[in-house]
Amino acid sequence: MGDLITMDDLSNKEINNLLDNAERLLPVAKGDVHLPLLEGKVLANMFFENSTRTRMSFETAMKRLGGSVLNFSTTGSSVAKGETLYDTMQMIDGYADVAVIRHPRQGAAQYSADAIEIPVLNAGDGAGNHPTQTLLDLFTIREAHGTLEGLNVVLVGDLRYGRTVHSLSHALVRFGATLTLVSPESLMMPREIVSDLKSHGAEVTESSDFSATIGDADVIYMTRIQKERFPDEDEYAKVAGIYMLSAGDLGGAKKEMIIMHPLPRVEEIHPSVDSTHHARYFRQAFNGVVARMALLCDCLGVKVPKKVK
Ligand code: CP
Repeated sequence: MGDLITMDDLSNKEINNLLDNAERLLPVAKGDVHLPLLEGKVLANMFFENSTRTRMSFETAMKRLGGSVLNFSTTGSSVAKGETLYDTMQMIDGYADVAVIRHPRQGAAQYSADAIEIPVLNAGDGAGNHPTQTLLDLFTIREAHGTLEGLNVVLVGDLRYGRTVHSLSHALVRFGATLTLVSPESLMMPREIVSDLKSHGAEVTESSDFSATIGDADVIYMTRIQKERFPDEDEYAKVAGIYMLSAGDLGGAKKEMIIMHPLPRVEEIHPSVDSTHHARYFRQAFNGVVARMALLCDCLGVKVPKKVK
């Protein structure tokens, strides 16, 4: 693998290999095993938009594997003086071995990958894609259910602008999942993505009635209604807080059903859910470290040993 811009850059076999390697690296992510596979390598964390989990889990992944990290943000950099994305990325080509980029503009990751030689990993481009999140999401689902096949996954919230669900839905149908898409009408999954999912033979149902979907779900994937993506604040106000899940809503849920969220949450998952056995969103965030460790090794051409100890 070179660049990772969308999930189309990975075959199912490559995804399974990455998930297997991520599983092997769990003791390294926890700090129980010292394995400096990436010693001497440098990661450039290029964040043109805010992040907690993606930036920090990439940094942890690189450091746990013995590598080092350059952290870039727009404040404090020469972007404030008007430097272009193209020029900024040219510098990184000379300073680092791999670049992770998050940018508010859809297409910025592909643009950067085309501009430089080192591998570029898309850490979220506007309302486009977030494939490294998808890897940790798949890892979390497989960890809980032992498989990705045949599961009923309910995606809830902002399916229009939500890049996590754009990437995840695409990957899930490739592994034979059934999708239920729950959103208000103004935030439905883009028609071209639904058509694409169906063209892969996926069973896709769309609904605005969240409570009716809970009983049949194997995975409920909540998302935040993203205020920052709305062109008009009045439109945001109409749908803010539309789907909220609390522990009291889970009485009819399957015992093994898991609740995920890419985070940050605002009000869509009540803290009462945190102590239920369904809650997986904090574990999911931890899994970002192992998924990104596996990814960094792969794009830097470093083999993960079959037995890590
Ligand atoms: N899941 C996710 O992308 O979180 P951050 O925005 O904090 O990176």
